[in-house]
Amino acid sequence: MGPKLSISNLGKFFGDLQVLRGIDLAVERGEFISVVGPSGCGKTTFLRIVAGLEQASSGQVVLDGRVVRSPGGDRGFVFQTDSLLPWRTVFANAIIGREIAGQVGPAERQRTLELLKLVGLEGFEHYHPRQLSGGMRQRVNLARALAIDPQVLLMDEPFSSLDAQTREIMQTELMRIWEEGRKTVLFVTHQIDEAVFLSDRVLVFARRPGRLRENVSINLARPRTLAMKRTPEFVRYVDHIWRLIEDDVRASVIEEMV
Ligand SMILES: Nc1ncnc2c1ncn2[C@@H]1O[C@H](COP(=O)(O)OP(=O)(O)OP(=O)(O)O)[C@@H](O)[C@H]1O
Ligand SMILES: [Mg+2]
Repeated sequence: MGPKLSISNLGKFFGDLQVLRGIDLAVERGEFISVVGPSGCGKTTFLRIVAGLEQASSGQVVLDGRVVRSPGGDRGFVFQTDSLLPWRTVFANAIIGREIAGQVGPAERQRTLELLKLVGLEGFEHYHPRQLSGGMRQRVNLARALAIDPQVLLMDEPFSSLDAQTREIMQTELMRIWEEGRKTVLFVTHQIDEAVFLSDRVLVFARRPGRLRENVSINLARPRTLAMKRTPEFVRYVDHIWRLIEDDVRASVIEEMV
């Protein structure tokens, strides 16, 4: 069996602006991969191409032997900002992917309820998004992505609007869900410690144009615990990755100030 996801020589232009160049990547079934890199290096664009929401300018994405050209039920997407429909309840938001696919039988309803329970939202099924905290809304987002039972989960800074404590809780919840179902995950984040904590591999992107600078394997035992974040091994990984992107980040901060 080949890799679950195979990306070769991927490039992307928006007009004259080259955003991504020459990205090669093979992802194994069940692997958890994070993507880090400075703002504007093309992480969201990369994920959107894998999702089939954006077309590559060159190269291709192959999922299970088939070239990706459009979105599909085999990929679940969690966006950078929550995209819940305000007039729908938590349950109705979570099941929407199934509804679009025309599959809302008792089994799908049951599974959606189970997922809401899994993300800690039991009892909130009939609430509307405005009645939830930011963290709860992001958990609905996560349940919605999982409800279509995707083989590949694409997550774009899903925890960025959460406070530090909720974020850590969500990290462990995501780990628990991932250990349970072993989906293939591509996870974009700015938090390097989050990337190290969650991942089998961390892809460090460089910018202008966005390309793969280094592919860092994280050889920490699983299941991971929050206490691991304080071990010297963990800190070494974080330092290493931070050094790789530091110059790039510095350059982009200066650019944004002028
Ligand atoms: N639809 C679009 N049309 C034109 N340019 C775009 C479009 N989408 C993204 N870009 C440009 O592509 C570059 C990469 O954007 P992208 O959103 O992929 O970066 P990112 O790494 O996700 O950044 P951040 O960390 O801030 O979320 C940016 O320069 C952005 O302006
Ligand atoms: Mg982005």
